[in-house]
Amino acid sequence: MEIRFRDASPERIRTGLLVVPVREKKVDEPELRALDRRLNGNLRARIRQSKFTGAESSTLLYTTSGLLPAAQLLLIGLGGEAEIATDTWRKTGARARREAAAIGAEEVALFFAPGKNAEGAAGAVFEGALLAGYQFNKYRSNAKPAAEPTSLTLFQPGMRANAALQLAAERAQATVPGVFLARDLTTETPSVATARFLGEQAARHCRGRGLTVEVWGKRKIEAMKLAGLLAVNRGSHEEPRFIKIHYRPARRPKKKVALIGKGITFDSGGLSLKPSKAMETMKLDMAGGAAVIATMSCLPKLGLDLEVTGYVPTTDNLPGHNAQKPGDVIRYLNGKTIEVLNTDAEGRLILADALALAAQQRPDYMINLATLTGACMVALGPHVAGLFSNHPPLAEALLRSAGETGEKLWQLPLVKEYKESIKSSVADMKNIGGAHGGAIIAALILQEFVGEVPWAHLDIAGPAFAESDNLIGPKGGTGFGVRTLVNFFSSL
Ligand code: BES
Ligand code: MN
Ligand code: ZN
Repeated sequence: MEIRFRDASPERIRTGLLVVPVREKKVDEPELRALDRRLNGNLRARIRQSKFTGAESSTLLYTTSGLLPAAQLLLIGLGGEAEIATDTWRKTGARARREAAAIGAEEVALFFAPGKNAEGAAGAVFEGALLAGYQFNKYRSNAKPAAEPTSLTLFQPGMRANAALQLAAERAQATVPGVFLARDLTTETPSVATARFLGEQAARHCRGRGLTVEVWGKRKIEAMKLAGLLAVNRGSHEEPRFIKIHYRPARRPKKKVALIGKGITFDSGGLSLKPSKAMETMKLDMAGGAAVIATMSCLPKLGLDLEVTGYVPTTDNLPGHNAQKPGDVIRYLNGKTIEVLNTDAEGRLILADALALAAQQRPDYMINLATLTGACMVALGPHVAGLFSNHPPLAEALLRSAGETGEKLWQLPLVKEYKESIKSSVADMKNIGGAHGGAIIAALILQEFVGEVPWAHLDIAGPAFAESDNLIGPKGGTGFGVRTLVNFFSSL
């Protein structure tokens, strides 16, 4: 999809679908009046009959019958001025794309008068339009390629394509393929998307100036003493992998960041086996790792002055004949020990290694993403990720970045007193606590492995996987985290 900016007025622009965003109760703005005059007053009449008021997410489609150079006109409600956020523009872009595909319009033009933060709004419109085009059809025999728009033009009388607008558009074009990669990896079936496959995909997609990929096999993982990854892998016939991706910028880096992603390619629970219903979506359990690989793959195109290292410990969690047993103790490379009382609390076991390893490099920030706990979903529902951090400025920055991308984050506390509940009778700690506060307990266990490094943990168990089709993507892997991380990096 080509992205353009143009100086034009709505009654003059030639396009398949002309989109005019409308603020709540502002159905009498000059751009609509100009169109109405050309349409002999019929637009105003249609608006009145339809009760279209510009309420958020409402739409009105109007066929122009040759009275305008645009074949069809689509009004999209933005809601009240006070509620219009960057994400409103993202949804508007997605709606425009979907409507264009539905009516077979190849060219889409959107009247663009955001009022404030034009770059943010423009980037979001393009991003929404691109995101809405995602499909996963690999296993469908009847899939036909949808009629897709070839161009999206933002226009306004006097519009100039300045450098900031161009950059916003380029950033969307650089990020969305990363989101799609994360979605593809997460939605891929678990017997295909093994640890080895993830390693191959990382090597294939993390290419370009400054990026290098190392994929460690079992021998190297043993040599590096990644005891948690080896313990979880024991029940599997597949070998584990430890993926390390490094980005070195062209200029001297301003900051050094480590990203760590949970890469459980399928979580059966291990010997502490999950019930079948809970296992249905457990291919999603590498979504954190997928987000890390995908974010790394975007970096050469973004050209930021940051040094970033991505770490993805990956294996499936199966109850094979050599599986780790409840009661086993793992000894980690930083000397700490964990008693495994529930093999289904495996994410923290493989992340502990990776966090300890990443912390040795003394990064300025360390951020991990993990589909870690069902408890986080209980607390925040399916759309919101939990954020835990030992460093308030980092938490602030991530919350701000997430606010702009529409990926919902909510901070939860690291309650020191709850450490009491992970005391073990034989080791430094056990891998589960009591019945309540499971998301916090998991985060406290991770914290034991980050030392003093400024760190944030995103529990993405809910939003990593969409339970139904939505505006910016279908049911399945969402690529949650990629856009927020890219936005966070751009803000550093
Ligand atoms: N991968 C799961 C968490 C999960 C659950 C992600 C639902 C997405 C949707 C994790 O490994 C797990 O099984 N956690 C257990 C921890 C418990 C045994 C302490 C859980 O949440 O039940
Ligand atoms: Mn589990
Ligand atoms: Zn898991």
